[in-house]
Formats: sequence, C-alpha cells, structure tokens
Amino acid sequence: MKKDKVFQLNQTAVEKLAEEYATPLLVLSLDQVKANYECLRTYMPRVKVFYAIKANPHPEILKTMIDMGSCFDVASAGEIRTLSEMGVSGERFIYANPVKTGVGFKACRDCGVTRMTFDSASEIAKIQKELPGATVLLRLRIDNSSAHVDLNKKFGAGREHAVELMLKAKEAGLDMAGIAFHVGSQTILADPYLEALDIAREVFEEAKEAGLDLRILDIGGGFPIPTPSMKFNLPEMLKQIHARLDEDFPNIEIWAEPGRYICGTAVNLITSVIGVTERGGQPWYFLDDGLYGTFSGVIFDQWDFKLISFKEGDERVAATFAGPSCDSLDIMFRGRMTVPLEVGDLLLVPSCGAYTSASATTFNGFSKAEFVVWENVNA
Ligand SMILES: Cc1ncc(COP(=O)(O)O)c(C=O)c1O
Repeated sequence: MKKDKVFQLNQTAVEKLAEEYATPLLVLSLDQVKANYECLRTYMPRVKVFYAIKANPHPEILKTMIDMGSCFDVASAGEIRTLSEMGVSGERFIYANPVKTGVGFKACRDCGVTRMTFDSASEIAKIQKELPGATVLLRLRIDNSSAHVDLNKKFGAGREHAVELMLKAKEAGLDMAGIAFHVGSQTILADPYLEALDIAREVFEEAKEAGLDLRILDIGGGFPIPTPSMKFNLPEMLKQIHARLDEDFPNIEIWAEPGRYICGTAVNLITSVIGVTERGGQPWYFLDDGLYGTFSGVIFDQWDFKLISFKEGDERVAATFAGPSCDSLDIMFRGRMTVPLEVGDLLLVPSCGAYTSASATTFNGFSKAEFVVWENVNA
C-alpha cells in the first residue's frame, strides 16, 4: 500500500466480488490498516498508539493491531473481554470511559487492566472502591467547535477544577499519573491540538506546584481521514503536533487514541440498487444497505458518504437514497447528484470503515453486511 494512496476498489473488482458474494459486502484491507498505523508511528514516533476499538472492532483489524504491537482504548467490559480473549494483556489497555460500570470494573480486575480516565469526584470514589491504587488520567474538557464530532459536550473536567480533582484522586490513594483530552473527531487542523497542548502544559505546571508529579499525557483521537469536501495535510499536521510535544513535554510519556484514522480508509462497501421509484419528480433509489446497517454513520457519526457508480453518461439527477427496511426514517441522502440508476446497479462506498459496521443493527431482520478481507480474495 503506497503511503499517499487510499484503498479503493476498481470496477472490475467490485463486479467480481458482487458476483462471488452477496451484496451488501464490506471489503476490508488489512494492508491499509497497517499503513495507517505506520503513518502515525512515522510522523509521531514518541506517541504510543492505543487504537480506539469502538470505531471498528472487526476481529481481523484487532488481530492486525495486536500483531503490530498497538495498545488499545476500551470503553466497556465487552471491549476489554474481547481483546483479553485474543491474548492482549492488561497493561496494553486504557479504560478511557470517564464513567465506568460495575461490570467494566469487574472486567478490569479479571483481565489486569489498571489504567483509566476520570473527570469527576464521584468517579474517583468509584475507582477507589473497585480498583484501589489504579493509575488514573484526568480527562480535560477541550472546546473545539470546528471538530466534525465534538466529544467534549459529554465528558471532560473544566480546567478550573483540574488540580483540585487530581489532588482528590491522589488523596484517595490512586496513582495520579497524567492528563487526557480529545479534541473531537475528524479534526483537520493542528490548531485545536496545539491549543489543547497549551492548556495541558499549564495544568501540568499547576499540578507540579501543587505537589503532583504527572508523567503521562494522552492526546486522544480525532485524526482525520480524507473526504471529498475536507482538505488537509496530515503529515504536516502530525509533524506540528509532534514538534510541540517535543518542545513542551520532553520527558513525558505521550499516548494517543486514534479510532477513525486507523480503520476509516480500510473498508469499502459494495451495495446494490434493489428498488427504484419516483416521488415529487425526483428519483428514489432503494439500496440493500441502509441507515440501520453500514450507513448508521449518517446518524451516529454525522458522516456524509461518497457513492461511486461505474455507469457511464453525462446525465446527472438529484436523487433520494433509502435503505431496505420498512422504516421511513431509513433514508440516507436527499438531493444527491447521481447518474440515473436501475435495479441491480452496483455502488461503491469507499472509506467507510469507521463508526459504520460498528453501530449497524439487524433491525427488521436485515443481516449486517458481511466482511471479506481484500488480501484474501481473488478479485
Ligand atoms: C475517549 C475516546 N478516545 C478516542 C476516540 C476515537 O476518536 P477518533 O475516532 O476521532 O480518533 C473516541 C471517540 O469517540 C473517544 O471517545
């Protein structure tokens, strides 16, 4: 896989795969997963990667990341146990959910997970009771209205409470080790990271004055994947972040929790048109995958998927695309420009590996799209 190339099937492969397997079909490139991981390691060599498996917990992706030596960001008992059963030992986890459950703590005890985040006094008391002496990072709230998905509306302690909370954690006997933040998903500029690093540096200094010796900084996820409408220079962005880390946090262990960046570009969906009608003078195309399936990212991730048709011709129409279920909510795109389509036509959806199959359901009895691994198929 070339460094600047993103996995995208050509027409011949799409047709061959659709014939050999039923659609909807998800095609996963493990070489792309490896290239994405290596890219982060190349441009941010000091950063220890904890793959946020919520973005895509497909076993082959997990296996690949395990073999490459990645660590993991987990948010639930299920995620902890899945990885533990695959042989990942407790020290390769960060339980990065600031509000943990009883079964989550039990999974930590069973699987040897001792590192976690918190953002409230109530969570300190819970950790003290369930996992005394655990190593904790304070999740800081970072406002970034430019992020595609703002993850700071729900989590993160205000900067003004940071030192007070960290002292409380220390008094409770926890190993108060550092700070974590998340600038928001699909952040396409270095600036929000640099602003967050400014705040983190101030908090590190205040903590030192208060007698706390912090040793870990977790810069979260948020690293972007290319889309037709978002232009950015990732190597430049990563270099800028890394240079600032070297400048301001020279002796601190740096962690990151990329989700989308690792898996987003590694999956292509092949879906078929299963119905065509016309309403209000506009064509409607019904696909065999929808909002309750791979396109769940339209709702949960506010993602705008690219649809590629291999049909020729200059005519373009504004169309509505709907999924296969009987729910009228199951409409993915309205007014989407496309060549006119017919039943049986195939569409390719590239770069749909993050927050898609992970949140798909079997609502209405429709199976989730099957996966095949690109490197194992003959197309
Ligand atoms: C705590 C935490 N870390 C990492 C991630 C992954 O973020 P991204 O997919 O933007 O890299 C998320 C996403 O929800 C998160 O909540």
